[in-house]
Parts: sequence; structure tokens; C-alpha cells
Amino acid sequence: MLIPLNEENLRRAARCLASGGLVAFPTETVYGLGADAFNERALARIFAVKRRPFFDPLIVHIASLAALPRLVDVSALGGAGRERLDALSRALWPGPLTLVLPKLPEVPGLATGGLATVAVRFPSHEGAAALIRLSTGAVAAPSANPFGSLSPTRAQHVERTLGDAVDLILDGGPTEIGVESTVLDLSEGCPRILRPGGASAEAIEAVVGPVRGADNPLDSSAAPPASVRSPGQLKGHYAPATALVLADGLRGLARDDECAYLFFSRESYGEEGGAKNVFILSEAGELIEAAARLFDVLHDLDGGLWSCIYTERAPQEGLGCAINDRLAKAAAGSAGFTHIPPELRRK
Ligand code: TXA
Ligand code: MG
Repeated sequence: MLIPLNEENLRRAARCLASGGLVAFPTETVYGLGADAFNERALARIFAVKRRPFFDPLIVHIASLAALPRLVDVSALGGAGRERLDALSRALWPGPLTLVLPKLPEVPGLATGGLATVAVRFPSHEGAAALIRLSTGAVAAPSANPFGSLSPTRAQHVERTLGDAVDLILDGGPTEIGVESTVLDLSEGCPRILRPGGASAEAIEAVVGPVRGADNPLDSSAAPPASVRSPGQLKGHYAPATALVLADGLRGLARDDECAYLFFSRESYGEEGGAKNVFILSEAGELIEAAARLFDVLHDLDGGLWSCIYTERAPQEGLGCAINDRLAKAAAGSAGFTHIPPELRRK
């Protein structure tokens, strides 16, 4: 059931969570599908509702640093790790940064995909923080979408895709940032970005110095990790049902009336006005606006009107890294390769 986010409904949703229910709620990044992090039955329901494989760990959301000792084995972090945790939590929490840290045995393996680490995030969205505080103080929440599909940036996206399988959907309007949090692994040696997101590599490096990660444009040594440590790294995540093609040189491509063309900016489109099948993420080419609109626009374009969505990359800096990561994975996961370009079609 979709209900507006207000004080009364926050208390109702918090009771629901505390008694093992599932509540979808807004954060500053995307909508999350929350359950009490220590309730295994509720955690199992998250996986069932999302059709998410059990090996894909969840993020545990907190609303106070005082919750960390319930989740994290700080002694296993080592001195340098503790210093990084202190500095990052002071500088970038609350906010769109998730930290992967050694877990305490009490944290259910279901929440962490059986890993020895737990991902922790302190969201800055006031409604989310109030919900966490009013319930159990530790809320496991993946994005509130079916596994592998477009992320939800509006309550209506959740209602459309998960509907009655969720006990309550708190409607707090569109989310501000629009792409998920950055996942940063602090559990071993040099910090590594496992998923680019709302906190830029630049902002993180300003606090803790060099970080690693294949997607970090600042890491010149970037080699992909030996194994996939974060399924957000899997190709083919975040995919629309419609074929999506990530094309360089989008401007020069022959247009097809059946296809939608999503440009990053007015400048990259290069023309005044527009055609009915041309869409622009951010007129002024602002990364913040482009990220905030990304999933919303893709949800709209995925409505069945177009046989294919052609899009282009954003500049690879700041939030642009997260935008490009989501677009590349959406293209890999969609039926994009089955799209037949107009010039090859039989007339
Ligand atoms: O912005 C966000 O992070 C949103 C909102 C709701 O907070 N949540 C979100 O959750 O995006 P989800 O489940 O869609 O993505 C969590 C990512 C996955 O790629 C998962 O594999 C990774 O975090 N992750 C979680 N725990 C991990 C761990 N212990 N080690 C490595 N990666 C982990
Ligand atoms: Mg997700």
C-alpha cells in the first residue's frame, strides 16, 4: 500500500519494520526495500520479493554512529582501517556512501550473502533516518526493484514493479540524487570502489587519499579485481525491458522513428528545439541533474512506446562515473544486441 511520508505514517512504517514487515522508503539516492537487519525471516522475504539471488548481499542502513558496534568488528579493521572509517564517516556521512567493513558474527549471514563483511550506509534523507531511528536502528535495504531491473527513484516505480508484495510504500516524492550510493570496500588494505555512485571518487580521495577501483578515473593503476566482490559490478544490472544501446557518436547516427534517442546535454545533441523521439538528460549538461533524472527518464522511455533506446555516455568525472556505469550495465543487460538498425531492416 502506498502512503504519504508524514510523521504518523513514519511511526506506522517503523512498527511494521520492527514486527518483521517490509517497507519501501525513499533515501537521497533511490528507494530502498527495508527489513529489520536482524530478522532473518524478513530478510528472506526481501530476496523472495526482489527475486534476488542469496549470494548478493544487502546494505544495512543506520541513523546513528552508535549503531556501528552492533554490526562491525572494528578490532578486525586495524589501525589504518579505523582511521579511514573515522575520517569518512565524519566527512561523508550521512550521505550516499556505503562502507564495506568486517562484520560481527551476530549479523545474519542472509544480510551479507555469507561474506565476512557487512555493507553499512548512513543515509542523509530525513525521512529515511527517522524511519530507521523509530524502528530497530539497523534496516537492511536493497534498492526497491526486481533484481537486475531499473532502479526506483519514485514511489510509483516501486508500486508498479513490486506492488502488493511490499507491506507499505512510503511516498516521499522523487529522490534527490537518483543513482545509488558509492560502495567502498574498507575491509582490506587500500580502499577500493566496488560500485561508483552518489559520492564521487574525488570526494572520497580528498578524505582518505588514493582509492582503487576499475571505475575510478583517478586510479591509473586500475585493474579489475580478481573476482566479482559486489554484484553491483555484474554486467547486465539496472536493465530496462526495452533494448538499450550505448552509442558513441550518437549525434551522427541515422534516426529511426521507432527509436528514442537520449542525449546527455543540449550541447551534445547539437540542435535547437527537438524531435518527438529526442530526449535530453540535462539541458545545461549538469551531472547532478543528469544523475537525478537518469532512472526516471529510463522508466518513462521503457513504457513500451519505443523499440529501442539509443543513448550516449556522460563525461567520465564525478557523478558521471556512476551514470556511465549504470548505462553500460543497462546496455549489457538489455536486449540491445537484438535491435536491428534501420539500414539493415527489410523494407
Ligand atoms: O543507494 C543505495 O545504496 C541504495 C539505497 C536504498 O540505500 N541501496 C542499494 O542497494 O543500492 P542494492 O542492494 O541495490 O545494492 C547494494 C550493493 C550491491 O552491489 C551489493 O553487492 C553490494 O552493495 N554489497 C553489499 N554488501 C556487500 C559486501 N559485504 N561486500 C561487497 N559488496 C556488497
Ligand atoms: Mg540495486
